[in-house]
Amino acid sequence: MNPVIKRRAFLAASALLAASTRFPALAASKVAASEEHEQRVRDLIAQMSLAEKLGQMTQLAGGRQKALNSRIDDAALDRVRQGRVGSYLHVAGAEPLARLQCIAVEESRLGIPLLFAMDVVHGYRTIMPVPLGMAASFDPEMARRAARVAAVEASVSGLHWTFAPMIDIARDARWGRVVEGAGEDPYLGSRMAEAQILGFQTDDLASKDVLLACAKHFGAYGAADGGRDYDRADISNETLHEVYLPPFQAAIAAGVGSFMTAFNELNGVPTTGNADLVRSLLRDQWGYQGLVVSDWNAILELVAHGAASDPVEAAALALRAGVDMDMTSETYADHLEKALAADHTLLPLVDEAVSRILHAKARLGLFDDPFRFGDAEREKLVLGSQEHRAVAREAATCSIVLLRNEGNALPLRSDARIALVGALADDASSTIGSWRARGQMDESITLRAALESRTVTYAPGVSPRDPGTSGIAAAVEAARNADVVLLVMGEDFDHSGEARSRSDIGLPGPQKRLVDAIRATGKPIVAILMNGRPLALEEVLDGIPAVLETWFLGNESGPAIADVLFGEVSPAGRLPMGMPRSTGQVPQYYAHPPTGRPANPDLSKDSARYHDAAIGPLFPFGHGLSYAEFRYSDLSVVPQGKGGSLAWKIAATVTNTSARDADEVVQLYIRAPVAGLARPVKELRGFARLAIRSGGARRVTFTLDPEHFAVWRGGWQILPGSVEIMVGASSEDIRLRGRLENPEAREVGPGEIAGAARLTTVTVA
Ligand code: NOJ
Repeated sequence: MNPVIKRRAFLAASALLAASTRFPALAASKVAASEEHEQRVRDLIAQMSLAEKLGQMTQLAGGRQKALNSRIDDAALDRVRQGRVGSYLHVAGAEPLARLQCIAVEESRLGIPLLFAMDVVHGYRTIMPVPLGMAASFDPEMARRAARVAAVEASVSGLHWTFAPMIDIARDARWGRVVEGAGEDPYLGSRMAEAQILGFQTDDLASKDVLLACAKHFGAYGAADGGRDYDRADISNETLHEVYLPPFQAAIAAGVGSFMTAFNELNGVPTTGNADLVRSLLRDQWGYQGLVVSDWNAILELVAHGAASDPVEAAALALRAGVDMDMTSETYADHLEKALAADHTLLPLVDEAVSRILHAKARLGLFDDPFRFGDAEREKLVLGSQEHRAVAREAATCSIVLLRNEGNALPLRSDARIALVGALADDASSTIGSWRARGQMDESITLRAALESRTVTYAPGVSPRDPGTSGIAAAVEAARNADVVLLVMGEDFDHSGEARSRSDIGLPGPQKRLVDAIRATGKPIVAILMNGRPLALEEVLDGIPAVLETWFLGNESGPAIADVLFGEVSPAGRLPMGMPRSTGQVPQYYAHPPTGRPANPDLSKDSARYHDAAIGPLFPFGHGLSYAEFRYSDLSVVPQGKGGSLAWKIAATVTNTSARDADEVVQLYIRAPVAGLARPVKELRGFARLAIRSGGARRVTFTLDPEHFAVWRGGWQILPGSVEIMVGASSEDIRLRGRLENPEAREVGPGEIAGAARLTTVTVA
């Protein structure tokens, strides 16, 4: 928009704000106490017509992901005036949103403010690592700070609500959305979930610079058959409760303000129409009080699933299940009235849904000041600020994983003559990954740009998207004249993400040819991987001494990678998902039961393995090397208390025996009692990223209690027995082993948190 027109429009909106009679105390944005909220919500519901109620239950797209606000036309504004919309998504900007809010609060009959939402997933303007990368930091505090920056930026732009974090566990790297989550492990997933929620919401939703977070996609969306997005999940109740649901329980414990149901069906019932899952489990058993929104068009899709015969039945099914708000399908708006006429028992459910929506608005303080979010002046200062860029740099650096470093190929000598090869090295768009909100690719620093001051020859060679191979010759030439080749390979950002499942997770495009050509030069190679999912690269990486996993790291991608390459920082990220050797190995995960015939390297023995591949992943869950070396020692397992307060303190000392300061990620795994069950060989139950100075040592203590070992058998149960304790640097690099005896046997109550959702207390001395 022309800046003059923009200014005029803003002044007009400001004038309206100043003239507001409904909200006289705009400046003093004090949030009412919850009793007042209750009363206000009750009063409003009593005054609302059915059409207004259905309006509140309707969320419309105000634009498209790449064209925000583009659908806010006159017809849309009229609809707001009539009170027939409760929320908009794909909108942004302090000025346009203030104008839109003004119409809702000044020109609609009841003046109910709108909720403005967007997928602010890994940054708003300042883009952080994609969530899978952020999880690789094994640093929830870093993830919290990254989400905080996103909330500060998005809220100043007028947004109230983000559809994040995505907390779906993913064990199949073919699924494109693994990039949006925290990987394969429910304990890591739970910690990352709560950290992000805290970052978005803080502990006070009434503060000004927060976003209502959304735990999505409930539940087991990540278990899609064959990794095909949107496909069914057919899993046991044990797997559902022990693996896929813990992050959602952790999200509730962290106070998450909203949930989103998933697109998929779970064991035959689409989750958006699944009353057992949403109404019984989430609300009744877990006690979740907040708002539940469907995914995009998912209520209407109940018809395509075959679960409802028409949109009227679909509306009734979703409402019965406990879905409060309809994202974009307008099935509630257009068809719920007919369903209500046929079945009066649905009516109270409408009031419940509206009440939860109004409560969310009240919790955000919108009834006290509907304009409290969004500030056009501050927006200019805050978006992409230096302070935020500094957080992005730290987050990016933390997320890098050193997968292989034979012969200490890294760090590089500062005077090394470098050939930088691969189009991804200069692909600013890919650095910001999918779900880029208002991130700008021209604000990203690529690896090529970050290395500009050094002796570097850049040759793109090939690109992951383009079949052309004509650039290979120049890349080979550059390699021949260099001391070392930085070979950047992986995926274009658009290879992973929603609806980006792939049947082959090898290197896309002609990149393998480039790798072979560079390998043939005999020059030392450092492989730098950029990708949104674990790739199957056993053959590609064969013989390459150094491999760095860098995901899509956001705006500060290049400088962060350069810091690690030249040893300014020692890498300490860890894989949140194992990297398979080949596509045929997926799904695979470390927390697998051993089977009756555990995998055996001797091919003459019948065992649980593929005959044509080595056992296990190429790089396992939790794996990541360092430039430093660490010694693990002095494991102690000490029981504390008894009866109801039984616990164990598990402590280990980690010593940095090298000459450089570095971080180390200490991991605690357990193997729960046998008691007639086949339990996973390992389950993560604690971790700590420790900064340890050269020569220094830190003692880390994890406190576990019997609920941490609980297993799901129709309900959480604590079984008595011997629990193996393993402390190490990855799921495959266990340095210390111990054991504890748990005498307790009992059922865990519905209000208690058990298994991977349960937070382990960690203290570091
Ligand atoms: C569909 C995606 O599944 C969901 O994660 C997202 O929040 C919505 N679209 C809104 O963009």
